[in-house]
Amino acid sequence: MIWREKYNVGVPEIDTQHEELFARVTAFVETLRSDKEWSEKVSQVNETLSFMKDYVVIHFQDEEAYQAEIGYPEAAAHKKVHNDMVAYVGTVSEQYEKTGYEEVLIQQFAGKLLAWLINHVAADDQKIANYARKKEAEQNE
Ligand SMILES: [Fe+2]
Repeated sequence: MIWREKYNVGVPEIDTQHEELFARVTAFVETLRSDKEWSEKVSQVNETLSFMKDYVVIHFQDEEAYQAEIGYPEAAAHKKVHNDMVAYVGTVSEQYEKTGYEEVLIQQFAGKLLAWLINHVAADDQKIANYARKKEAEQNE
């Protein structure tokens, strides 16, 4: 999954975080798709899950703070999308521990995560950027 300029929202801090997320998720998916033994993949799975739990939460907080700052009208709905994702990651890592580090679960998770990330960054987050641009244009009128 390649990072594209059009995914930028124009806020350097957030764009850097998005790029980092893309890089991490891409590496994760590539490892899972490789023909290495599952036992070799497990350490990266663990690492990615804990990264997702920490980094994503910080990223979401920063993004939500930015939305509040610009008075983004759909902030509440956007926060719900973030919260649902955090809950999903939490559920998956719990299941993963309970089921004894099962590969099928993680393969499904990786696919969903990748699709969610592209869709969220390229669509939902772009709406924030559009609003910010519109607001700025109105202020400059
Ligand atoms: Fe977002």
